[in-house]
Amino acid sequence: MKIALFVSGSIAAFKIPTLVSSLIKNGHEVRVAMTSSAKYFVTEKSLAIMSKHPVLTDENQFQNAEHVSHIELAQWAELALIAPASANTIAKLANGIADNVVTTTLLATNAPKIVIPAMNNQMWSSQQTQENISRLRKFNINVIEPEVGMLAEGYEAKGKMPEPSTISLIVENFDSSQFLKGKKILISAGGTKERLDPVRFLTNDSSGKMGTALANAAAGAGALVTLVTTKDLPTIPNVKKIFVESAQELNNKILENFSNTDIVIMAAAVSDYRVDHVANQKIKKTSPTAGLDLHLIQNPDILSELGQKKENQYVVGFAAETNDLVANATKKLEAKKADMIIANSVGGENKGFNSEDNEITILRHNQEPKVVSKMAKTQIAKIILKELL
Ligand code: CTP
Repeated sequence: MKIALFVSGSIAAFKIPTLVSSLIKNGHEVRVAMTSSAKYFVTEKSLAIMSKHPVLTDENQFQNAEHVSHIELAQWAELALIAPASANTIAKLANGIADNVVTTTLLATNAPKIVIPAMNNQMWSSQQTQENISRLRKFNINVIEPEVGMLAEGYEAKGKMPEPSTISLIVENFDSSQFLKGKKILISAGGTKERLDPVRFLTNDSSGKMGTALANAAAGAGALVTLVTTKDLPTIPNVKKIFVESAQELNNKILENFSNTDIVIMAAAVSDYRVDHVANQKIKKTSPTAGLDLHLIQNPDILSELGQKKENQYVVGFAAETNDLVANATKKLEAKKADMIIANSVGGENKGFNSEDNEITILRHNQEPKVVSKMAKTQIAKIILKELL
C-alpha cells in the first residue's frame, strides 16, 4: 500500500523512524511529510533515510517547479496516517485549515485517514480537542484513542501514542470500508488450561493466533470486539481483552457477554475434560512404580450452549480435525446448532495449531462448503469476516 505518513509536533515523533521501518518491512511504500514543529523531535534526515524518499517540508515543497509536491503526495497516497497528531494539527484538520505542508496535503487527499493523537492529557481532554475529535469522526476520519501511560511530563495519564508495533498492527488491520462498523463481536481464542494441582495442568497446542487475528481484523473493520482469551498476543487498542484460563472460566465470560453481541466466534480450543477434583497440593508419587489414575469429567460444551440459547446472534464455531474434515465438521454444524463452522486440519505440517498459516473450509447450512487455500491467519481472518457479512 502507498502510505503517506504525516508527522506533527509532539515528543512522540521520535519513535516515527521505527514506525516507518516497520511499515516498510510489512511491504508498504512510505512517504513522509512533516511540520516545522515536528523537527524539534525527529530529524528530516532520519525519516528520509528510513523511508528511502525525500521528506516533504514547508521549506522544500516548492523546490520542484514541475509539479506541486503536496498535491502530488495527496494524489499518490492510498492511506494517510497522521502520527503523532498534535492537538494543533487535529484542530486544523477538523476545521479545514491548510497553513502548512501537512495540513494542505491532508485537505487535498481523498485517501482514507487514520489519526494517532499524542499529547498532554489535559490538552487531550480539553473541550476544544474533544470537539475537534468528534468533528473528525463525523468526517469519517478514524481516530485512535491515545493510551494511558507515562507522559513526557513524568506522570501516568491518557495521551500517549501507541508503540510503533501497535500502530503497524492498526494499519495492517484497517479496512477503510468499515464494513463491521458498530457490530458487536465476541471472540474466544487460545487453548484452555485445566489444573490438576497447583503446578500442573492439561492443555493443547492452540496458540490463540487465529482468534486474535479475527479480533484484530474485526476491530480494524469497525466492530466493537470483546476477546476472551487464554493468550496475551498483540491486539489493536479497540479490542477489549478478557483473560481466562479454564473452560469453565471461558464459559462464564462468554455467557456473560452473549446477550449483548451480534456475532460470536468460538475460535478457542476448549478442553473437553477436566479432573473432577483439583488437588490443593502438588500430587506426589505414592511409590517408585505406581501409576496415576486421573478421573476426568466433561466440561460444558460452550458452542452447543450458545447454539441452544441464540436469539438473533450469529454463532460461528471452529472444527479442528485430524481426519474426515468435512464430514466431521458438518456433524458439528448440525449437532451444535451453529450458523457457520470453520473447519481446519490440525496435526499436519505447518497448518492449524500454532502455525502462522491456516487452510480452512467454511461450512454453512444449505450451502456448498467453501475452501480457502493456505494463507496467513491474518488474511484468513479477513476472509472469514467478509463471509460473515
Ligand atoms: N467447543 C466448545 N466447548 C467445548 C468444546 C468445544 O465451545 N467444550 C467449541 C470450540 O471452540 C469449537 C467447536 O466447539 O468452536 C468445535 O471444537 P472441537 O475441539 O473441534 O470439537 P469438540 O466439540 O471438542 O469435539 P471432538 O473433540 O470430539 O472433535
